[in-house]
Amino acid sequence: MQKTFLMLKPDAVQRSLIGEIISRFERKGLKLVSLKLMQVDRKLAEEHYKEHKGKAFFEPTVEYIISSPIVAMVWEGKNVVSLAREMMGATNPANAASGSIRGSYAVDISRNIIHGSDSVESAEREIALYFKPEEILAYDKAGDSWLSE
Ligand code: TYD
Ligand code: MG
Repeated sequence: MQKTFLMLKPDAVQRSLIGEIISRFERKGLKLVSLKLMQVDRKLAEEHYKEHKGKAFFEPTVEYIISSPIVAMVWEGKNVVSLAREMMGATNPANAASGSIRGSYAVDISRNIIHGSDSVESAEREIALYFKPEEILAYDKAGDSWLSE
């Protein structure tokens, strides 16, 4: 089953939105297979956002990500990579659909409360950055057979 890496950024934690956001993914029918509250260090933040190195927002983004704890998660489900991106909404909350996560809870692109992998390849890279293989759990959930044929 496809997996994606999602991060509740420091503003989501500080604004007490952890439960609210996790709840959306649970209710959608996705499966949480790993989760941790952690403090990201500069090295990890720079590695995570390395595709943006050299851009004006790179350094402020790194500073923001390391400013306070985040929640790192791995979620599993059918087409979960694109599905989670859809549920998150556009990068800039000003353009995000009003019912989406960013559209519901954020106003500024530099404080957009959640990260989600943008492809299956990015998901594999990002999961490996934040988790050891043995931290990703495989288990059956009671509702699985009611989600898909
Ligand atoms: P990006 O990978 O383009 O967006 P996404 O998170 O939707 O994959 O950018 C990474 C993060 O960098 C983005 O979530 C917020 C921040 N950012 C800015 O602060 N300003 C910007 O103009 C852009 C494009 C991104
Ligand atoms: Mg991105």
